[in-house]
Amino acid sequence: MSKPFAGKVAIVTGAGSGIGLATAKAFAEAGARVVIAEVNDTAGEEAAREIHAAHGKCIFVHTDVSNAKSVSTLVARTVSAYGQIDFAINNAGIDPELVPEATWDEQMFDRIVAINLKGVFLCMKYQLAQMTKQGSGVIVNVASIAGLSAVANKPSYTASKHGVVGMTKAAALQYARQGIRINSLCPGGVDTPIAMDNHGGNPLAVASMNNAHPIGRIADPSEIAAGALFLCSDAASFMIGQSLVLDGGLTAG
Ligand SMILES: NC(=O)c1ccc[n+]([C@@H]2O[C@H](COP(=O)([O-])OP(=O)(O)OC[C@H]3O[C@@H](n4cnc5c(N)ncnc54)[C@H](O)[C@@H]3O)[C@@H](O)[C@H]2O)c1
Repeated sequence: MSKPFAGKVAIVTGAGSGIGLATAKAFAEAGARVVIAEVNDTAGEEAAREIHAAHGKCIFVHTDVSNAKSVSTLVARTVSAYGQIDFAINNAGIDPELVPEATWDEQMFDRIVAINLKGVFLCMKYQLAQMTKQGSGVIVNVASIAGLSAVANKPSYTASKHGVVGMTKAAALQYARQGIRINSLCPGGVDTPIAMDNHGGNPLAVASMNNAHPIGRIADPSEIAAGALFLCSDAASFMIGQSLVLDGGLTAG
């Protein structure tokens, strides 16, 4: 099997579950050394075990993306273990917001923004310090179609993901001449714990989520991982500050 990313180093945040786990596995299969950055130790250690069992190279670093010291340690541990950061997939995120009208919860807003938006800010801040020294690197920020259009009853999640898309563009412009490419990835519905929790496992709600996508289903996490691989590959060498939408046609209409 070809190993297009042999010799490369990839950080994946939130790599213990869902899209992050699929992405970490895909990068390891492509030959990269992967850093699993995850706040849930059990999930992070299990992800590392699965990658090692498949003969991939990885380390697990306990990381809370909303905490500057934790993210700074993540980058320092990556460089001390592997010497460089070629790719960073800033994917960790939460979506606990099911808000009945007119009961906007301030603590919920702070929590979502701390992880989904400030988390990406902190990750880029420390990753860019290293990538600037190298004069190379690719960053992929996992936003959502909620970063491009609004989701009713999710004001905080929508705001956090619009913020990720905007911050991605600002950073992309700033670093475009320094050999660093930065883009965002905007999935529609993906079959992960976040998406299922949103519907409380209700089969009718899950069916309606599948039907809402013109393709007739939500994505498998591996289909989103494929987008991250593409954005990091040389095939995307002229792509800067863009949002790659992978949504089964949801936003095409
Ligand atoms: N699943 C979907 O339908 C969907 C759609 C669009 C965008 N997204 C986005 O994709 C990303 C991944 O979502 P998923 O569906 O794989 O969810 P998931 O719940 O399966 O995985 C998220 C992972 O992030 C970790 N995490 C949470 N807070 C963290 C923190 N502070 N620091 C480090 N890790 C943390 C969790 O422990 C978990 O392992 C999120 O940013 C989400 O908003 C998901």
